[in-house]
Amino acid sequence: MSTNFTLIDFDIDKLDNGLEFTVKSPSNIALIKYWGKYGEQLPSNPSLSVTLNNAYTQTTYKIQRSSEFELDFKFESKPNDKFKQRVEKFFKRAAVVFPFIENIKVEMDSHNSFPHSSGIASSAASMANFASALCEIEKVVTNEDHDEEYYLMKASFMARLGSGSASRSIYPKMAIWGKSVLGSSQDYAIVHDQFDEIFEGICDSIAIVSSKEKSVSSTAGHALMNEHPFAKTRFMNASNNFNKLLFALKTGDFNTFAKIVESEALELHGLMMNSDPSFILMEPNTLEIINRIREFRVQTNCAICFTLDAGPNVHIMYLKKDEKQAKEFIDQEVKSLCADSLVIHDHMGNGVIVER
Ligand code: PMV
Repeated sequence: MSTNFTLIDFDIDKLDNGLEFTVKSPSNIALIKYWGKYGEQLPSNPSLSVTLNNAYTQTTYKIQRSSEFELDFKFESKPNDKFKQRVEKFFKRAAVVFPFIENIKVEMDSHNSFPHSSGIASSAASMANFASALCEIEKVVTNEDHDEEYYLMKASFMARLGSGSASRSIYPKMAIWGKSVLGSSQDYAIVHDQFDEIFEGICDSIAIVSSKEKSVSSTAGHALMNEHPFAKTRFMNASNNFNKLLFALKTGDFNTFAKIVESEALELHGLMMNSDPSFILMEPNTLEIINRIREFRVQTNCAICFTLDAGPNVHIMYLKKDEKQAKEFIDQEVKSLCADSLVIHDHMGNGVIVER
């Protein structure tokens, strides 16, 4: 593990009175997809995402000093051994960067704002949550002097080690992960606010096509790219799309934005369909919704498009200015194609929020 961020100088006595805080951390939706990695969770191409607002993990933390690391984990106020093991693994791994972990007892109670079956990336929200909590503790025990930007980078770095896309959930609005623009890095994400005002508050309504989420696990998914016949072309395409999207964002060009965002979604699914083993994650209603979105866009000129994650649900993205029109379309044309008519309305949000 790269240890550029390792805390050298800290004083555990500073936790003598304990510490309590709450972390609210959002999920995010990638417009340029991260699909394929190498080394220690390093991305094969740069990715860009919109940070969501309503889909988040919220966790309360009670920290005390202790002679060894202890974890009392609850999910929705109930013990949950499966999740506890994951959290424990994350904290133990993080001890290289946050050595005070060996000297604390952590009590946490976590919940997600979105249903488990929605296919919203809970690992992005939760890993961003745990990483941000560690930074919050560090701020108390450290004898070093760092600014807020340093802690955002460090949280993003640590979140990335838990789940690549989680690195982007730390930041408000949009985030970039992977060496590309000035200041960007393979190791952590950075905020992206170089976009025209038309994209401010962009909406994402998630059409739940299937609540039996048929997704490919992240580890298995990224591994599909190792021997993929189109891998080289994909990584080149992703970088080209990334650059074109940056320009479209900056110039307020929604048509180019829509073309690239949709092409990224279909490319992700195309890659999965062409992998060995092959996965078809779209359902008939995924395609039906996609076709209806495109038809509606042509007929009305509404600034609307779609993207997909590694599952059958459709993320319907539209500009704030067209929110009313887009929501009417969703109610009339999309809802009936969703499992239990479920559509989760979300929009661009503010990144991680910590409250003491
Ligand atoms: O962060 P991971 O390892 O769960 O991978 C995320 C992959 C996609 O969600 C398909 C794309 C992305 O960039 O978020």
